[in-house]
Amino acid sequence: MGIKPWYLLPPSLAHHLSLPAINLMSPFLPSSSCKWRSLTFQNLEFDNPLGIAGGVDKNGEAIFAWNKLGCGFIELGTITPKPQSPNPGKILDRNIGHKALWNKMGFPNKGMEAIYENIVQAKESHPNLPPLFINLGKNRDTENQNASDDYVKVMEKMKSVADAYVVNISSPNTKGLRDLFSPNAFSQFLKPVVDCNQGEKPLLLKLSPDLEDEHLHTVLDLSYDLGVDGWILTNTTTFRPQGLPFPTDSGGMSGAPLAHLSERMLENALKHLGDRRNNKLIISAGGILTPEDVKRRLDLGADLIQVYSALVFDGPFFFKRVSDKFKNIQ
Ligand SMILES: Cc1cc2nc3c(=O)[nH]c(=O)nc-3n(C[C@H](O)[C@H](O)[C@H](O)COP(=O)(O)O)c2cc1C
Repeated sequence: MGIKPWYLLPPSLAHHLSLPAINLMSPFLPSSSCKWRSLTFQNLEFDNPLGIAGGVDKNGEAIFAWNKLGCGFIELGTITPKPQSPNPGKILDRNIGHKALWNKMGFPNKGMEAIYENIVQAKESHPNLPPLFINLGKNRDTENQNASDDYVKVMEKMKSVADAYVVNISSPNTKGLRDLFSPNAFSQFLKPVVDCNQGEKPLLLKLSPDLEDEHLHTVLDLSYDLGVDGWILTNTTTFRPQGLPFPTDSGGMSGAPLAHLSERMLENALKHLGDRRNNKLIISAGGILTPEDVKRRLDLGADLIQVYSALVFDGPFFFKRVSDKFKNIQ
């Protein structure tokens, strides 16, 4: 759609300029309501089901801008207790022809104290924000056996500003993180996090598209029994289709080549959960790049949709474009 000047910039520069650019632009945007397919879950009200995925605004630096652009909900993070820098070397690439992204960022973020201040400031100046989801993670130097401590720390810090939480153990870019999905480690890791929440706010688990079917079912069963309120399907994949010049030994891929995996996992999870999906929140992410893709995931049974790659390959007006197309759906 339209001209994309950011295509002329190297991927990492485009990435660095994206949040300052939308922050500069947002005060001049008309306040248009993006109300379509509104939804209430527990006590959260969503004007529309389309939001930004984890990693888009890691530090809560453009909260008002996302609201102005028409997001139905905003996920911030992944947030770790201590600030941390990105993984060394090249951490981001883009392939415009394939509409694919590759990253191995490794949760670079300003840490929970600084991000908490950003959120407080945004909430004070803009009281009517859409639901804020806080994506929880661990610092890379925290051992897996102590991982839940980090998730609990961030949750406790964010209690007064979060509307919902996302437990992220599905990133491929923090060494060993996905091992927490192993049935031996999983419940022991997740239980203290669920206990800390005490059922106060929706707590979702973000899944990896690389889980085998049987493993996915085990993770769904265990997390359901522990009382999570829903799932995000999916994070990035370590799978590489042929013809993409991305590194094969590290990083995660998103965008169009992830669509099939993510869609298949959504169908698989819904089928496995059956009636247990009632009163749970199911969020689909992965390769959703057009309004038709959004509609398709909703038709498959997702309650909410998240995008990252669409913001790179379509642009920040994606939310408005989808809303214009579907605003007659309530
Ligand atoms: C550059 C980049 C950084 C990301 N960082 C995070 C992150 O910090 N936490 C997280 O849960 N997911 C992160 N993701 C994954 C996205 O939230 C999303 O699950 C994935 O990109 C699939 O959606 P998409 O195909 O619309 O991009 C990141 C993705 C990209 C491309």
